[in-house]
Amino acid sequence: MYLAHGEVATPVFMPVGTQGTLKGLLPDQLETLGCEIILGNTYHLGNRPGPELLKKAGGLHKFMGWNRSLLTDSGGFQMVSLLKLAEITEEGVKFKSPYNESECLLTPERSIEIQNAIGADIIMQLDDVVSSLTTGVRVEEAMNRTARWLDRCLAAHKRPTEQSVFPIVQGGLDPKLREECVRQLTQRDVNGFAIGGLSGGEEKDKFWKMVDICCKLLPEEKPRYCMGVGFAADLVVCVALGVDMFDCVFPTRTARFGCGLVDTGQINLKSKRYANDFTPIQEDCDCSTCKHYTRAYIHSITSSETVACHLLSVHNISYQMRLMKSMRQSIIDGKFPEFVKNFMTTMFPERD
Ligand code: GUN
Ligand code: ZN
Repeated sequence: MYLAHGEVATPVFMPVGTQGTLKGLLPDQLETLGCEIILGNTYHLGNRPGPELLKKAGGLHKFMGWNRSLLTDSGGFQMVSLLKLAEITEEGVKFKSPYNESECLLTPERSIEIQNAIGADIIMQLDDVVSSLTTGVRVEEAMNRTARWLDRCLAAHKRPTEQSVFPIVQGGLDPKLREECVRQLTQRDVNGFAIGGLSGGEEKDKFWKMVDICCKLLPEEKPRYCMGVGFAADLVVCVALGVDMFDCVFPTRTARFGCGLVDTGQINLKSKRYANDFTPIQEDCDCSTCKHYTRAYIHSITSSETVACHLLSVHNISYQMRLMKSMRQSIIDGKFPEFVKNFMTTMFPERD
């Protein structure tokens, strides 16, 4: 992808920084880890520092000292999933702010206004998100409303040459609704598409099926972004299905619980079994954590959380970056099927 702040090689994983900073990592470290694009949240940034301050600061890139690419989510999903107090009408998403208890209304226009102030290279439409476990007419309503809100977002957008608005395919776990949603969204002039409303506790089989349906119908030459997906196996499956972009809090969140990502899954460094293990988290990892520290050392400091969390975050983001890089290279080499086979047999070894 060629964005206003540089090139991004795809398929790509985008680490999530909620408050304009990644929990446990600094912009410099993200660059060192080879990260070309990160994600910010309109919902959080709209409250603090807020759009006026961000405008004064010259946008989020300058404000946070990150000169590479940024993507912001539109805010609605965070309000619905985090607050559960949100009420959705045709106008927008209404909710009580946890910052000051006042009633707020996030409309498609307001979401774009805030995202224009933040200045990310890719910005997301406000969508009507329902849980992937919801069924019935509500799913269809949300799908159609998402298409209507897309038009309001595009009409409100003030910086189309610097920022691309991505629509979000909704439609729950219903193939017909997904197809209809793609049909509607692809009639608009946009630079890429997202697949939303997944990875919310539904069965893998259904999740992957929805991704497959969307990827088969979305235009090949534009990036496809599967939102909120970050487990290694899902990344590999979805890349195979045709997805180009992912984001997830998983690698940094699991680091805060003491977990390190490895080729066979994940290990919990808090466990006593690592007390005398003087190997790095992952033998062939070239991140600074694995270069300098052992499992035993990290185990010994997991009770004093911040440093352990920091070391694990560096490793976990490095793990995700390496996984994506391996996929990109295997695609370039024409060896992606072989990569998938190796990845799966290492992650899920046959037991006898
Ligand atoms: N993050 C994860 N899933 C979604 C979604 O469906 N919509 C939005 N806006 N953000 C998400
Ligand atoms: Zn490492």
